[in-house]
Amino acid sequence: MATDLRRDIFRGMYNPVYRNPYASEKDDNPKNSHASFPPGWLSCIRLPRRQAIISFLNVLLLVVFIWHIPSLPGHSFLPVPVPHTNLTPQKPDFTPPTTSTSAEDTRRRLLTLSKNLSKIAFPKKIWQTWKTIALPNDETFTRRQTWHALNPTHEYDLLTDKSALDYVVNNFNATDPFIVHLYANFPQRILAADLLRYLIAFKSGGVYSDIDTECKKPIDTWVSQSIAHLPHVKQEDINIVVGMELDILDKTKYSDKWVIESGFAQRIQFIQWTIYAKPGHEISRRMITSVQEKVREDIQKSAGKCISGLKYSEREILDRTGPFGWTNAVMGYVNDIMGREVGFEEYTGIKEGKVFGDVLFLPVNRWSPGVGHSDAGGDETAFMIHHFGGSWRD
Ligand SMILES: *[C@@H]1O[C@H](CO)[C@@H](O)[C@H](O)[C@H]1NC(C)=O
Ligand SMILES: *[C@@H]1O[C@H](CO)[C@@H](O)[C@H](O)[C@H]1NC(C)=O
Repeated sequence: MATDLRRDIFRGMYNPVYRNPYASEKDDNPKNSHASFPPGWLSCIRLPRRQAIISFLNVLLLVVFIWHIPSLPGHSFLPVPVPHTNLTPQKPDFTPPTTSTSAEDTRRRLLTLSKNLSKIAFPKKIWQTWKTIALPNDETFTRRQTWHALNPTHEYDLLTDKSALDYVVNNFNATDPFIVHLYANFPQRILAADLLRYLIAFKSGGVYSDIDTECKKPIDTWVSQSIAHLPHVKQEDINIVVGMELDILDKTKYSDKWVIESGFAQRIQFIQWTIYAKPGHEISRRMITSVQEKVREDIQKSAGKCISGLKYSEREILDRTGPFGWTNAVMGYVNDIMGREVGFEEYTGIKEGKVFGDVLFLPVNRWSPGVGHSDAGGDETAFMIHHFGGSWRD
């Protein structure tokens, strides 16, 4: 109807009512150029009628215009052609077009995720793994007892090679069979052992700790003690705890050569022999995704295009499933949730605890005392001790 009206109005340009009554009346309209009506007389009787018609059309135009306003996108006064297919009703949304980058979207999403996770507590569960139910020696048994003794209300689960495979299959085969394939078939089993801790952290949460660790302080005190000096941080805001393994920004003390020869990739590195997380944390998810992507690529590039042909160097293992990869996953997450690049200098020299987003970073001393670098200090203020069993990884 609106289109018809517009057409009629345009047609009106050629309608006699718009013409100069003295101009071409005679030529165009023989009826009106009747000899008995002199021009003066004509204009006398026609002008009021013409004004009435013009006024009427103006009012009509105004009504049509006002009637159209709500449907004019972005307050534009130009009529916009409406496609005749897929007519979905447009929401009257007059907020300026969103300029948010994907980084802002990511940040918002991560903040929502972490707020959601804040509603649940850390599961009171301790996870360890060993080949079999029988621990390798008395020392290991004694160390395991420290976890029980200091955390009597925590559940404890020792996953053996067999029960760990069941755990992975039961929890991941339905949703992510490639993970199960990797876990079951890595020819170098250290990759599977590494992967398992991320799968546990993601699926179940609680504390994962290598079998060669010894508990020194009750788990329930770890977070509260570490944020006691941060009045603006609430305990429930913390969804994952990350221990500092390496903090050696001082190049005069630690040369680049020392870093490489000591088997590190960069001067700040995080621990993955212990992970304390709520289930479903984005860092664990990203780490698992990163392992899948890297290994899938490695398999494609390998001669047999098959996982059994993978033969990694020590550094490649550290990068794929070990602390290099973990450190990158953690730092990438922190950058994303903070919405900026958090530099090494912000991770260095942590004395009690430092929080970025929902991640609590512990000083080197807490999970890695007595290592002889990074100002690690002794056992007195440590939460746990890592005895660097090493051989269990073979
Ligand atoms: C947050 O939790 C609510 C329910 O508690 C759920 O509906 C929503 O999808 C969650 N959001 C995210 C981003 O996980
Ligand atoms: C995993 O699931 C697939 C079907 O989705 C099944 O064929 C396979 O046997 C399962 N693997 C194990 C180890 O249960």
